[in-house]
Amino acid sequence: MMGQDKKVQTLFDEQQIAGRVRELADEIKAGMPRDFVVVGLMVGSFVFVADLVRELSRLGCRPAVEMIRMSSYGLGRESSRDVHLMSEFGMDLTGRDVLIIDDIVDTGHTLTFATDFIARSGAASVKSCALLDKPARREVDFIPDFVGFEIPDRFVVGYGIDFGLNYRHLPFIGTIG
Ligand code: IMP
Ligand code: MG
Repeated sequence: MMGQDKKVQTLFDEQQIAGRVRELADEIKAGMPRDFVVVGLMVGSFVFVADLVRELSRLGCRPAVEMIRMSSYGLGRESSRDVHLMSEFGMDLTGRDVLIIDDIVDTGHTLTFATDFIARSGAASVKSCALLDKPARREVDFIPDFVGFEIPDRFVVGYGIDFGLNYRHLPFIGTIG
């Protein structure tokens, strides 16, 4: 299979992810105002957002859900650090409480940009949630409000997360060499 021939070593299996997503939904329900907007960053967070909003729903939360696309990574393993918005942003966030969701916080540039952007859009408050956090790689001070798992400096794929557009379909999270 072209571009997908690397061996993937499981880091978090489906049960581990599902269990942590359930806990995160509890933490988010307790830490967010009653009425909030989820803004997921495409494409990497799409599986996480889908699972998380359904867990929130089971807890009685009714978040609005929007996705926006930021660029930065391209096809390689290194963030370009020049993050910008690639999609139109259709939703009026004036006065809304927003929870930004991404797959991974790595150097911190993407979530820093996204948080500033949403705050400038007139949101009443902005919090962030990353499924994975690699604190060792941080280049700018950024601490997400909610984190699924802290991980070491390893390149991961699966559960929405890609390498060169591949591996997003995997139901688990793994590392590649
Ligand atoms: P940051 O701007 O460096 O914090 O990068 C965040 C983005 O880089 C995330 O949204 C991911 O899409 C991507 N990224 C960071 N680490 C990995 C990885 O291990 N595998 C795949 N993508 C990653
Ligand atoms: Mg991303």
